[in-house]
Amino acid sequence: MTDPVHLELLPLGQTLTVERGASLQDALFTQGVEFPCGGRGRCKGCRIRVLAGSLPVTADDHRLLTPAQIADGWRLACRAQAKGDLRIELAQWEAAILADDSTFAFRPEDGLGIAIDLGTTTVVAQLLDLRTGHVLAVQTALNPQAQHGADVMSRVEFATTGGGRRILTQLARDMTGRMVADLFAATNRAARELRNVVVVGNTVMHHLFCDIDLEPLAHHPFEPERDGLEVFAAQELGWHLGGSATVRFLPCLGGFVGSDILAGVLASQLHQRESLTALIDLGTNGEIVVGNRARLLCASTAAGPAFEGARISMGMRAATGAISEVHLRGSELRCHVLGGGPPRGLCGSGLVDAAAAGLELQAILPSGRIADGTPLRLASPVTLAQGDVRELQLAKGAIAAGLRLLLRQWGARPADLTCIYLAGAFGNYINRASARRIGLLDFPPEKVQPAGNTALLGAKLALFGWHEQNGAFSEIRRRIRHVALNLDPEFEEVFIDEMRFPAHANP
Ligand code: FES
Repeated sequence: MTDPVHLELLPLGQTLTVERGASLQDALFTQGVEFPCGGRGRCKGCRIRVLAGSLPVTADDHRLLTPAQIADGWRLACRAQAKGDLRIELAQWEAAILADDSTFAFRPEDGLGIAIDLGTTTVVAQLLDLRTGHVLAVQTALNPQAQHGADVMSRVEFATTGGGRRILTQLARDMTGRMVADLFAATNRAARELRNVVVVGNTVMHHLFCDIDLEPLAHHPFEPERDGLEVFAAQELGWHLGGSATVRFLPCLGGFVGSDILAGVLASQLHQRESLTALIDLGTNGEIVVGNRARLLCASTAAGPAFEGARISMGMRAATGAISEVHLRGSELRCHVLGGGPPRGLCGSGLVDAAAAGLELQAILPSGRIADGTPLRLASPVTLAQGDVRELQLAKGAIAAGLRLLLRQWGARPADLTCIYLAGAFGNYINRASARRIGLLDFPPEKVQPAGNTALLGAKLALFGWHEQNGAFSEIRRRIRHVALNLDPEFEEVFIDEMRFPAHANP
């Protein structure tokens, strides 16, 4: 590093060294900080407070923060560069903040807690001080089970044939155990202070972590036999922490709708709202909840991996070299490449943008056919091929059909939805206007809110006042009805209809 500056992060007490002028978004992203609107200066979820050093106030700071907050040192991290040494405090890691940006009132407790979001692809763990609610350390990892299948159905297949379940269970427990040990290695707190751990994940992750037979998930009607709360002593999982921590895997909601969504409902307070709200996780296994305080419906729909850049000819995950945005300038396509270097491929948000731009140019027809039959050139050497558009149609058709049918069963119209929360990383980065243009989320963009990792937020809430939170989970589970979309006689027809792209952009 030729000209280093130091960033001290509170409440972590960690110091990073970065090149002078480096973007704070890039630096903090590596530390597990989320950028809920993808760093577009729209959500203020990335705000930090400067305690020492200085950061100039940007136009976006003025737009999103109050004068009092600015005077108090608050800035948007996604708009800032490290021009000198800084000591900063991260709002996101203070007493947990809910999906709607409000903090929750918690009763301080002694000791430490860990929240884990066990995803099919990635795993995130945070260590919290239960007295202050502050995050003390963060660990992220790729799920090593992925070597035995990228999506939940291939994991189910591996688990149910020839002893694969034991392997996958061991991988999940060993990896999370290592992450827990690494969380403590990153702080000066002792593992024996750990009181409780809350794990959330989809139904397949729940079964694999808890060592439950996956056979019922392998065939029709895909209903788990056992999907409730599972409780372990840390030692039972092979985690040797020297204390007596309790590990809880939160219960699922039914079918393939897991505790990640249960936790998301708690974090978004969907079950308390008067107005009709939806929570959608745009993952490989798309999960959807629709409802309000009176009634809740949930469903899962097999969207496939297109949103993660998989099964796309030049697809890749959202990493350096990925085209993450495509914009139309006149009739020309302008691409934004993550990391700023040469383009290597296309990630999910770029795919949605590319299809939206192709539709606007009439290079892609509403049927999904590429008009002149040749792949759309994005930025050399990256192109969008016919097969890629088809994969996207499958994914967007599954989500849009799932939402339409849930709303129909609820007795509501799409216009009745007041807010659509997008959970998960992809929801942070997707361009809402493009999502509307391709008919994935045909709503005015202001109704669609990226909500960050609601699964992890909900897991953090569950670390405090377990009896109360357990009551809330039981109440949500009692009130929510799981809808098996595969049994809906209209699913096929609606799905085929939703695979088409809208002929025109909606105003
Ligand atoms: S405003 Fe910075 S991530 Fe949204």
